Amino acid sequence: MAYNTIIVEVEDQIATVRLNRPDALNALNAELLSELAQAVAELEADARVRCTILTGSEKSFAAGADITEMADLNFVDVFSTDYLAADAEAIMRCRKPIIAAVSGYALGGGCELAMMCDFILASETAKFGQPEINLGVVAGLGGSQRLTRFVGKSKAMEMHLTGRFMDAEEAERSGLVSRVVPVKKLMEEAQAAARKIAEKSALATMVVKEAVNRSYETTLREGLLFERRAFHSLFATEDQTEGMTAFKEKREAQFRDK
Ligand code: HXC
Repeated sequence: MAYNTIIVEVEDQIATVRLNRPDALNALNAELLSELAQAVAELEADARVRCTILTGSEKSFAAGADITEMADLNFVDVFSTDYLAADAEAIMRCRKPIIAAVSGYALGGGCELAMMCDFILASETAKFGQPEINLGVVAGLGGSQRLTRFVGKSKAMEMHLTGRFMDAEEAERSGLVSRVVPVKKLMEEAQAAARKIAEKSALATMVVKEAVNRSYETTLREGLLFERRAFHSLFATEDQTEGMTAFKEKREAQFRDK
């Protein structure tokens, strides 16, 4: 499928979705979010794909929602279309793993888009921020909620109130990103992680996504019960038998998603 604002490639079970509006530092406009939602839905349905990497350019993952597009919108426009958010929900609905590989700017909606993914791998040049306050608005794709859960109230509040950016080292220290890697190695590292994920049972990867995400949405007691039942449920799969048999036989497991 050809898109105007993103480039989608599938190779060897891994999909790479590259945000591609270089003249605007990959600012997120309605067309890009709509194409992204469509691509994610297609990759979800594509049996060849076991993991997706969402990335931008070396200079910018995404510098936020497109200010040029937003400048002329009014309340009715953004409310009636649920501006950008309705399409962004597609990322959250995706049951297959999505890794954000972030280099350069991940600001505003860009930071929020990265946080919607399952984890963020950052290059040394990554810069995260929620500078919407400078435009007289606030985060609108989850930044006030997710950033606060990831890095804690004090740092999240400071970033939202002042609009200051966080560099990659600070982002790793505060738990926003899983790892920081050299800029030239970002895609190689993301692919290596995606490859590891692709080798697993897709049933188990879907279940563990649900369980970890549940931890943000429920009490510890309910989350623990959910996890236990999720664990129990995987004993209904052939992949559980294969995984444990392979361990005993000292060989690599051959999962069949059954
Ligand atoms: C539209 C953008 C843009 C954006 C950059 N550009 N960010 N266009 N929307 N968010 C464009 C610039 O206008 C410029 O176009 C080109 O990209 C290069 O940007 P420069 O500013 O010249 O680059 P630089 O000096 O390196 O500064 C980079 C930057 C700065 C620090 C990232 O561009 C910046 O502050 N951008 C805005 C970041 C921001 O406020 N994001 C939050 C948006 S609100 P021209 O044509 O002049 O070359 C948001 C809300 C989300 O995200 C919620 C939605 C529901």
